Amino acid sequence: MNQRVNRIRQILVALVMIAAVVGFSSCEKYSYTPPAVNSNTTWHFQTDIQPIFNSNCVSCHGGTQSPNLSSGKSFEALKNGGFVKLPAETGRLYLKMNSSSHISRSTETDRLKVLYWITQGALNN
Ligand code: HEC
Repeated sequence: MNQRVNRIRQILVALVMIAAVVGFSSCEKYSYTPPAVNSNTTWHFQTDIQPIFNSNCVSCHGGTQSPNLSSGKSFEALKNGGFVKLPAETGRLYLKMNSSSHISRSTETDRLKVLYWITQGALNN
């Protein structure tokens, strides 16, 4: 009799432990928040924006296709071509990145960085 009670107790303890492990691991999964892309952070052309162009755009916009988004050329091309006028949402760069022909070329995070960079004055920073 006592043995059976002990066995049931062992099983209950094991179940509670399993529940705790499952509970904790699912908490971890859902409480993870990716690094924030927000408008309070200063976004830099050289270190935040140009790398987006390098990875996603220069294969086409490397010289012949306007605007030229290659490193060293992109800032002038965007400024002189009037691609980054305010308000940012209506500028040609941001609009194009969100258009059906281009939306798959960048992530939402990338587009937010571009939006905030333009809103912050589209500086060559
Ligand atoms: C597969 C080739 C290709 C890639 C990659 C590409 N583009 Fe384009 N892009 C084009 C072509 C072709 C046009 C001209 C036709 C059009 O407007 O859709 C264009 C047009 C544009 C224009 C508008 C030019 C204007 O005169 O208004 C902008 C701005 C632009 N692209 C930005 C980007 C950015 C930013 C990226 C990367 C996130 C990118 N493109 C990636 C091919 C590409």
